[in-house]
Amino acid sequence: MATGIVREVDLKALEKIFRGFEGKGESILIPLVQAIQAEYGFLPKEALVKASHHFRIPLSRFYGVVTFYAQFYLTPRGKHTIRCCRGTACHVRGAAKVIETVEQELGLKEGETSEDLSFSFETVACLGACALAPVVVLDERYYGQMNPEKVRVLVRQYKGASIQESSIGEENNGKAD
Ligand code: FES
Repeated sequence: MATGIVREVDLKALEKIFRGFEGKGESILIPLVQAIQAEYGFLPKEALVKASHHFRIPLSRFYGVVTFYAQFYLTPRGKHTIRCCRGTACHVRGAAKVIETVEQELGLKEGETSEDLSFSFETVACLGACALAPVVVLDERYYGQMNPEKVRVLVRQYKGASIQESSIGEENNGKAD
C-alpha cells in the first residue's frame, strides 16, 4: 500500500488557489479543500497547514471537514480506483468472492493503494445499481453481474493497460534524454 511513500509536494500551486478564495471567510473551507485536492489528487498535510496559516482558520477545522466527507483523501490515490459493492443485494449474489478475487489480483486490502500508485481499492455499502448485483465500479464505469472470473479479466485488462502506459512513459523518457 502507499502508506509510507514519501513524495515531494510542490506547494507553489497553492498561491494561485489561495488567490481565488481571499476575503471570503470560513465559508471557503469545503471549496478550498476541494480545490487543493483537485490540484494534488489528495490532500497533502503540508498544503492543509499552509492553508490554515494563510486564511487563519484552525487546522482542526480543516481536518474536521476532511475526515467527515468521504470524497476527501489524506493519502495519495491510485491512477485507477476500483470499488466493489458489499451491500446486501450484491452480497447474496456472491460479492464476497468478487472482493476476494480483486484483493488477490491487486495484492491490496480494502482502503489500500498500490505502491506504484496504479490502483486504489475500496468497498462500498451500495453502488445504487442493485439490479445488476454484484456490481463493481472501475474509474466511474459500472460493471454488473460480476463473478470471480469476470472481475479477474477486468482487473488484468487494467493492470495490462497500466503496465503498458508506464513502459511507454519510460520509453519516452529515454528518447527525451
Ligand atoms: S447492494 Fe450492491 S449495488 Fe446495491
